[in-house]
Amino acid sequence: MMVLQDKIALVTGASRGIGLAIARVFAREGAAVVICGRKQETLDRAAAEIAPSGGKVRAVACHVGRADQIRGLVDTTLREFGRIDILVNNAATNIAQEPALATDEAKFDKMVEINLKSAYRFIQAVAPGMCDRGSGSIVNIASISGIRPQFHGMLYSMTKAALIMMTQSYALELGPRGVRVNAIAPGLIQTALSEYYWKDDARRATVLGQQPLPHLGQPAEVAEVALLLASDRASYITGQTMIVDGGRLLPWG
Ligand SMILES: NC(=O)c1ccc[n+]([C@@H]2O[C@H](COP(=O)([O-])OP(=O)(O)OC[C@H]3O[C@@H](n4cnc5c(N)ncnc54)[C@H](OP(=O)(O)O)[C@@H]3O)[C@@H](O)[C@H]2O)c1
Repeated sequence: MMVLQDKIALVTGASRGIGLAIARVFAREGAAVVICGRKQETLDRAAAEIAPSGGKVRAVACHVGRADQIRGLVDTTLREFGRIDILVNNAATNIAQEPALATDEAKFDKMVEINLKSAYRFIQAVAPGMCDRGSGSIVNIASISGIRPQFHGMLYSMTKAALIMMTQSYALELGPRGVRVNAIAPGLIQTALSEYYWKDDARRATVLGQQPLPHLGQPAEVAEVALLLASDRASYITGQTMIVDGGRLLPWG
């Protein structure tokens, strides 16, 4: 039997990068996966790419900064699939890669809305159903920047640190009701979001020089950890933040 046989999963920000890799692995393991991103066209391409992996994929456009669109996505999923067993809050942005003193309130609000409040809104919409059934798994994609601040990334780091604490807080309250809530903190992963750090040879070499595993992280390496946390194999794990960073945060060198 496949690990996620008959499970219904909702993965945000799954048109590319880490979210797409997670959706692909979930589909491979037998889940029906609902993916979202802002553009239907890009999502449809992603769904077509995932389809051969197995499972059922449904692409629904949703801007995670909009409460009404989040509600619409959750309602559509419940109407078409009946329930949500697994929620992955993955969509995020970084519009403020700059000195903290150069940021402004508009950027602050947008970063909180997209990276943090979206996860809160999704959990508030999805977790009650999980609690009623006494079963569910929520995975929030944080970052090592939420553990150690990213230089010129104050707003990003702040939202990810808060997401880790949100994870722990929900885990405390929802555990007794059968729902596990965990986070993943990736290090540098080769996606569009992080290309500033890996496209340039010198910058990439600097980061890789800080890792005992000296390769550039791939979305699939995060997806396999998301699979573990989402599945019943992680039945004794909640409130944790799994660091997937090639060992970069280890105090070495
Ligand atoms: N890459 C890294 O090195 C790294 C490291 C640590 C943590 N992370 C975290 O990993 C997660 C995935 O990042 P990634 O690197 O895979 O980024 P990515 O390649 O830029 O992909 C981001 C995904 O989110 C979607 N998205 C962005 N804004 C959205 C919005 N407002 N509403 C709905 N969907 C939205 C994008 O689709 P559309 O643009 O079509 O909407 C895309 O599917 C994020 O939480 C990120 O913070 C990444």
